[in-house]
Amino acid sequence: MREAAEMNESLTIGVLGAGRVGTAVGRQAVRAGHTVKIATGRPADDIKLITEIIVPGAEAVNKEQLRGADIIVVAVPLHKYRNIDTEVLQGQTVIDTMNYWAPVDGIMDEFESGASTSEVIEEFLGDVKLVKTLNHIGYGDLEVDSHPAGDPNRRALVHASDHDDVKDLVAHFIDSMGYDAVDAGPLAAGRAMENGTEIFNGRHTAAEAKALLQKHRQFAGV
Ligand SMILES: NC(=O)c1ccc[n+]([C@@H]2O[C@H](COP(=O)([O-])OP(=O)(O)OC[C@H]3O[C@@H](n4cnc5c(N)ncnc54)[C@H](OP(=O)(O)O)[C@@H]3O)[C@@H](O)[C@H]2O)c1
Repeated sequence: MREAAEMNESLTIGVLGAGRVGTAVGRQAVRAGHTVKIATGRPADDIKLITEIIVPGAEAVNKEQLRGADIIVVAVPLHKYRNIDTEVLQGQTVIDTMNYWAPVDGIMDEFESGASTSEVIEEFLGDVKLVKTLNHIGYGDLEVDSHPAGDPNRRALVHASDHDDVKDLVAHFIDSMGYDAVDAGPLAAGRAMENGTEIFNGRHTAAEAKALLQKHRQFAGV
């Protein structure tokens, strides 16, 4: 792992979950020049072939081998979060891509309070620096919506975290994949980018995303 100040272009990105989101993020991260390691709860051999085909350039690993990555992207269905091996993630910078959608996940009381789902996840995961982002872009859009820096049509991806010291690192990762990174503030502000919100439901430039965050803050009275 490295501090934002020591950061250079190429990062080591771990991805936990080799489904739709995990493989899409993995592909885009390989394109951006990062070293990508992908794991699930199963042995690496079980996902070796699918990784070679769907995420060429990435390495299928056992979940324990994600340790030490600059960022670990968690892309597991939310209703399975209690099965995540939290030991693997201790001390790591973690991106939480997961969303709560009751028709798919079932009613889960812990996500019905109105707090950001990522607050529950960070508490469950333990000693991690959790950043909520990449949850509000469709897995199929991640490649096609990517634009170079400075492009007037460049889409923004919002992030929220209580760990300001890793926000530059995560913003660098988002930028490298072709998106403007917009800081929503603390993890609780991640509610503004969850299912049902304007940010969740649309494509926005950085200026538009900032205006929507401001609108959400006023509406929420914070
Ligand atoms: N659909 C979208 O466009 C989109 C966009 C952004 C965010 N999201 C959110 O991203 C999350 C993942 O969605 P998805 O569509 O990628 O799911 P998915 O296609 O069902 O893939 C889930 C992956 O997670 C793995 N997994 C399950 N339990 C695990 C565990 N305990 N430890 C490690 N790996 C585990 C699965 O491996 P096995 O096959 O071995 O179980 C599978 O590789 C969801 O919360 C979703 O709401 C979705």
